[in-house]
Amino acid sequence: MTREGQHSAIHRADYTAPAFWIDTVELCFDLDPAKTRVLNKMRLRRNADVPAQPLRLDGEELNLARVLVNGQGASFKMDGNQLVLENLPAAEDGAFDLEIFTTCCPAKNTKLMGLYVSNDSFFTQCEAEGFRRITYFLDRPDVMASYTVTLRADKAKYPVLLSNGNLVEQGTLDDGRHFAKWVDPFKKPSYLFALVAGQLVGREQRITARNGREHLLQVFVRPGDLDKTEHAMNSLMASVAWDEARFGLPLDLERFMIVATSDFNMGAMENKGLNIFNTKYVLANQATATDTDYSNIESVVGHEYFHNWTGNRVTCRDWFQLSLKEGLTVFRDQEFSQDLCREPSARAVKRIEDVRVLRTAQFPEDAGPMAHPVRPDSYIEINNFYTVTIYEKGAEVVRMMQTLVGREGFAKGMTLYFERFDGQAVTCDDFAQAIADANPDSDLARLLPQFKRWYSQAGTPRVHASGSFDAAARTYTLTLGQSCAPTPGQAVKEPFVIPVSLGLVGADGRELALRTMDGNTVPSPYTFVMTQASETLTFVDIDAEPVPSILRGFSAPVVLEFDYSDEQLLTLLANDIDPFNRWEAGQRLAVRSALKAIAAVADPAPLQPLNTAYIDAMRSVLRHPTLDAAFKELVLTLPSETYIAEQLDVVDPQRIHAVREAMRGQLAVALTDDWAWAFDAHADNGAYQPDPLSSGRRALAGMALTHLCLAARTTGDVVWPGKAYQRFKDAGNMTDRFNALAALVASDHALAAQALPRFHAMFKDEALVLDKWFALQAGAPDRAGNILPAVRQLMKHPDFNLRNPNRARSVIFSYCSANPGAFHRPDAAGYVFWSDRVIELDGINPQVAARLARALDRWKKLTEPYRSAAREALVRVAAKADLSNDVREVVTRALAD
Ligand code: TRP
Ligand code: ZN
Repeated sequence: MTREGQHSAIHRADYTAPAFWIDTVELCFDLDPAKTRVLNKMRLRRNADVPAQPLRLDGEELNLARVLVNGQGASFKMDGNQLVLENLPAAEDGAFDLEIFTTCCPAKNTKLMGLYVSNDSFFTQCEAEGFRRITYFLDRPDVMASYTVTLRADKAKYPVLLSNGNLVEQGTLDDGRHFAKWVDPFKKPSYLFALVAGQLVGREQRITARNGREHLLQVFVRPGDLDKTEHAMNSLMASVAWDEARFGLPLDLERFMIVATSDFNMGAMENKGLNIFNTKYVLANQATATDTDYSNIESVVGHEYFHNWTGNRVTCRDWFQLSLKEGLTVFRDQEFSQDLCREPSARAVKRIEDVRVLRTAQFPEDAGPMAHPVRPDSYIEINNFYTVTIYEKGAEVVRMMQTLVGREGFAKGMTLYFERFDGQAVTCDDFAQAIADANPDSDLARLLPQFKRWYSQAGTPRVHASGSFDAAARTYTLTLGQSCAPTPGQAVKEPFVIPVSLGLVGADGRELALRTMDGNTVPSPYTFVMTQASETLTFVDIDAEPVPSILRGFSAPVVLEFDYSDEQLLTLLANDIDPFNRWEAGQRLAVRSALKAIAAVADPAPLQPLNTAYIDAMRSVLRHPTLDAAFKELVLTLPSETYIAEQLDVVDPQRIHAVREAMRGQLAVALTDDWAWAFDAHADNGAYQPDPLSSGRRALAGMALTHLCLAARTTGDVVWPGKAYQRFKDAGNMTDRFNALAALVASDHALAAQALPRFHAMFKDEALVLDKWFALQAGAPDRAGNILPAVRQLMKHPDFNLRNPNRARSVIFSYCSANPGAFHRPDAAGYVFWSDRVIELDGINPQVAARLARALDRWKKLTEPYRSAAREALVRVAAKADLSNDVREVVTRALAD
């Protein structure tokens, strides 16, 4: 077998407008798992702005039966995967009808792109280039057409027939079949097309918008899952209300549908009026879903809904502009989740969580072989560019724009963006220009060309800060420098525009008033806008050396270097009015201890990396009378192994693991009484509510239990493991139950061996819960190399299924990508396992395989013997014949020098 359509790099600079437009599309589907027939009638027109040329339509894994031009059989040729039509009739307006009849096989579609079958239902996934697997088309986002879709299928097997827009007709056909006809009132690019057919049930909700318009909201799931749809529906209603209130953007459709499927490559997809979701981001009830699941559902439902404006009404000109819709929509879903928080502290918690994702996933990407700008210049496989850089860093770039123009100014900018570009396919430049033009007096407008380097330059900038106090002059001067290391293909970086939010904290912990040299008092927090490689700012009337609190709220996606003393960090941890920097001070102290212990020659086992001051500070936080539980949980969570690894030039994963475990053990033992207090004090009675306050209490109680069980390993205590088992059995919700199970598994207690099978038996029919069960075991702390054999066993479990992405991720990714201490084995067996799985998955689902392939992105930083072994595993994958474009691009970049 050879792979079809192997292609080399596509460059942003090569963009040209399409040679033809497609005005209308009429699709008619005869749905059958083995052979679905697709009749595609299009009205096309030459694009008069580009030189005349043949029509080239994209297609993939299609069986072509017929091509008619203006109703007549037409001659065509194939060029690779493209259907080429020359000598097209040149009517006055350059328009003509094209009718294409093809068949495809949804049952054999394991890539889950295009039309596929999952649990006996039909689903589609077209972004980015899946529509070409359904019919021949100009499958690019700047070709926007009006769609009319007729679905025909067996009525008993597929009672529900859905597509984008409005249902205009339905009825019965011969042979037990029926049909439904849908018309989408909005023009759209092909990647937003969707259909669903199957045995589904829907939760419905009618709502009246501010403007008095009525809408029908529906959430479709498999029968039996209806009792898990309330939270998704509530999240959808909240999303509709929020976009109207914050940005004046109403729902533009009579009907808005969400459908859940258990076979899905990513989180969810924003198809116009017919969002398709991974069940993981829809289904929740208190018995099966954790607080984290609830909050992820809220974010993802919001995210896909917000795409209706940012992505669908205004879409991307080409896939290099992906962050135009994704960065902006992540920013919007982050703001949505924050705005739903009643307490300011809960907003801060959400911000810290978002930054943690950015720093543990995006910073490594930006420093590794797959580094790319927020607006990439080239790619081989676009599926590989749905990255944390496009999404999360892209969101930070939008957030900086909001910081530079203010919240109101940003809303004005959004309004101008839609005034200018509604119904069009545009670029990141167009967006930035609109925000700047709506705020002509802002720093953004003044600095726009330089600001846009955030779109063109890859890599994480470093801000080097230092302070000097002049007691005689009573001044404090901050010197701020910036630099950015080279990334593949970009040797030289020009200075960025970096908004640095900052304040000064007195040695007594109080916030100081900021006065600049000219005598002006500046508002605190103050945002200094850096534009140069180095600059200084001086504050006057300062009586004693202050502690600078820099980059408050993480005002820019940079690494801040400042040579804080431990005392200064303890001051910030205890007093900073900025919750982000308060948390950050604790993280800095922990990283510092970890790095010291890692560098020490001593064997890590008897190591006590944490000093008393740190442990006492953590006790104060844990016992603090007013801080809330969610914030405490974040402060007490040590920086991840991945984050610690990023602070090092040479990485010994086993050493990092040992040191971090030693730190956890120290916290567990030193704070035993405090954890016991915390567990009891945060026990929830009352009915289950997934709100930030009560989920924070559960998170802290769960953390306490984990540490108490860990401490029991050293003290031999049997009470707390017993309590954990009790909690596991009696818990009234999945969060408490799973936390208790995780505490037993993480401490490797004998009771875990009883709890795990019991948990499986309780939830054997709940796929999403079984995913947690698999993931917990594959992600458990390694003790004497026991995890890899366990992972191999899990893959033999009757409930394991490599074809289901959620299940594959729950075992393989949990081990290879989320369990560094178990994966990086001195005997290289983890890497061999990885290469086998990448190759195996590539034959089924290249998109998922390529994600797994990225687990070795940072191999060059590894110390021996890991480094050579990892390289060998990469070479082994790269040497495989018939690799997909997806995996080939990832491993080729990893091996490049
Ligand atoms: N556009 C989707 C989102 O961010 C994600 C997406 C892109 C996707 N390509 C996909 C989802 C392929 C599933 C499969 O919301
Ligand atoms: Zn998105």
